[in-house]
Amino acid sequence: MLQKPKGTYDVYGSNGIKILYLENLLRSLMDKYHYEYVRTPIFEASELFHRGVGETTDIVSKETYDFIDRGNRNMTLRPEGTAGVVRSYIENKMYGNPSQPVKTWYMGPMYRYERPQSGRFREFYQFGVEVFGSEDPMMDAEIISIPVNFYRMLGLKGIKVNINSLGDQESRNAYRDALLKHFEPHLDELCEDCKIRYSKNPLRILDCKVDHDLDCMKNAPKISDYLNDASRKHFEKVQQYLDALEIPYQVNPNVVRGLDYYTHTVFEVEASVEGFGSQNVLCGGGRYNHLVETIGGPSTPGVGFALGFERLLTALEFEQIEVGDEHLDLYVIPMEEEIRPYAFALTQSLRMNGFSVDMDYMNRNLKGNFKQADRFQASYVMIIGTTEMETNILTLKNNQTQEEYKIKTDDLILFLDEHIKEEHDE
Ligand code: HAM
Repeated sequence: MLQKPKGTYDVYGSNGIKILYLENLLRSLMDKYHYEYVRTPIFEASELFHRGVGETTDIVSKETYDFIDRGNRNMTLRPEGTAGVVRSYIENKMYGNPSQPVKTWYMGPMYRYERPQSGRFREFYQFGVEVFGSEDPMMDAEIISIPVNFYRMLGLKGIKVNINSLGDQESRNAYRDALLKHFEPHLDELCEDCKIRYSKNPLRILDCKVDHDLDCMKNAPKISDYLNDASRKHFEKVQQYLDALEIPYQVNPNVVRGLDYYTHTVFEVEASVEGFGSQNVLCGGGRYNHLVETIGGPSTPGVGFALGFERLLTALEFEQIEVGDEHLDLYVIPMEEEIRPYAFALTQSLRMNGFSVDMDYMNRNLKGNFKQADRFQASYVMIIGTTEMETNILTLKNNQTQEEYKIKTDDLILFLDEHIKEEHDE
């Protein structure tokens, strides 16, 4: 039997209901925050990610899905959303937009050739935001507030916000020198990848999953000791704004992130629930003040984050939070074969009037149909027989209370409007 590729999954049944619920909630949240939707291609020129995400990151050096297209171009399935949105910002000259900052959001599949495990897939789904043109630390705090508010709306309790600052270029250079000095006598202890990181991008060493427990990793210098005044001030302001929003957070110097483009604020929100597993980072992001320039645009500050749907679903399950109920306004049961065209037309017409309506397509008996209505959690059931059709008086049953109503066909929409609305309001 043909099977799905390793590290991927199908969405169907109750998971489909949950995911659509989460997507809709994010859409309406972005409406409230007044961010605009962007969609970029799932594949891009490989060079974009080499320049954008960084050659020394695990993502680009080991995890991209690369292919050569039929025109001999090097292409890559996007491993993340930021680089593509930045490319689009530059290519579509959004920097010329009079209403700055440009605040965008996106949603879609990403691809990383990682070792599949719980919470880590090869095709996974992200929601993300990217904001361009503002250096204001308030923007950093706003970005952090988006996932926090979203997780709160869902009722997640076990979440922890970790923030850190990687500082500006000057601070990072000073820190880089300190790291080189610190790791030089320990080069022999480091893994082969870290030896390359040492010469190319020593900050990456801190992110290594192999060398994680070495003493020289534990007592490595901390970025916080190398922030210059401007970077320190920026970070303090971010914290003041988070305080103003009453968002609890921890300053955690170990948050360095796995992508090269960050400057100043970086953050991660983790599920801090016992037994959740090692892949507990629900979302991450930060500021990237040089990325637009690196990709060939005018010098423009940026800040953003992305969250993964898979780990979010696991977190919801872990905290036993149900989202997105199955729901149907009305289930229609035609009693005889001759009634079916009438019932079919009535079903269509009610759908066009704004109700969610389903009917029996399987010629079930009455008992089987009531079972089906229960499975769909239908609010009302309508049974149509010859008498109903001839008299134009329909029988509706409230599927919870079992109360019965006799309604004239002409009054049906009015009745449903009143009763279904009541149910929705409850
Ligand atoms: P990231 O930390 O690589 O950042 O990914 C963000 C989130 O995507 C993670 O916290 C996790 O929930 C989810 N995720 C990542 N890889 C996987 C995977 N293999 N399987 C399942 N879920 C995964 C970024 O992607 C940056 N572009 C975020 C950003 C936006 N920074 C600034 N703007």
